[in-house]
Amino acid sequence: MAKIVGGITTSHIPAIGVAMTKGLQQDPYWKPLFDGYVPVREWLDEVKPDVAVIVYNDHGLNFFLDLIPTFAIGAAAEYPNVDEGWGLKELPAVPGDPELSWHVIENLVADEFDITICQEMTVDHGLVIPMSLMWSHEPNWPVKVIPVAVNTVQHPIPTAARCYKLGQSLGKALESYPEDTKVVIFGTGGMSHQLQGERAGFINKDFDLDFMERIVSDPDALARYSTTDFVREAGSEGVELIMWMVMRGALGGKVSALHSHYHAPISNTGAGIMVLDNAA
Ligand code: DHB
Ligand code: FE
Repeated sequence: MAKIVGGITTSHIPAIGVAMTKGLQQDPYWKPLFDGYVPVREWLDEVKPDVAVIVYNDHGLNFFLDLIPTFAIGAAAEYPNVDEGWGLKELPAVPGDPELSWHVIENLVADEFDITICQEMTVDHGLVIPMSLMWSHEPNWPVKVIPVAVNTVQHPIPTAARCYKLGQSLGKALESYPEDTKVVIFGTGGMSHQLQGERAGFINKDFDLDFMERIVSDPDALARYSTTDFVREAGSEGVELIMWMVMRGALGGKVSALHSHYHAPISNTGAGIMVLDNAA
């Protein structure tokens, strides 16, 4: 049977990709961030997952204001990354796992989550920055990926509670897959940031650190945050934390933090990096 071995959280700030291309990992500005990923990569090297389910938000590359699904899932054999600006280099397409995607889709819909099915899907920095922080794409990406996209672009966006429930359903779906497959699930985006308007540059370190603690110990409390709570406490783009709620829902009851690292600011954002063990 498939097994969800753990969860990973990470921001997806595009400037990280530019810093990687320029080899700035040891630069004084970047080092405190990149150091936080060393234990994550060590854990991944040890666990060697077959599949990464990456819960992320598209920023206008695959979906635009004319058509935005609340929840969407990829069912493709591969997911191309194309130029979206930000000075990012295009990365090789990320391989998919259509068989597992369809298993998850069947189960989600049967469980009343009417998710949008994408047999073609391009992936933006929300997915490829987390991927490239974990793995090299040379010679090939070492895992198959199932992208799960959550709308954070056009209000109304789904609540933390709804995302948490989607995660619970996703977790059940994944663990009912009959093949021996090791799955890691990513909650990406966040933490606090606001890229626009009067509060542009807003970061709330206290909120972020509390969120990192309670994503382990008390996710039910986090699931009671409203969208307005997130905007007030974590900035307008801090709503990306709802992706963490999907991840946490998929892990189930008790988890333990194998690694936890926070650094702010990077670009405009508070960056939280965690590895959650699902075996607790
Ligand atoms: C930044 C953060 C994001 O989440 C994003 O999508 C784009 C930019 C930033 O901090 O620069
Ligand atoms: Fe973002």
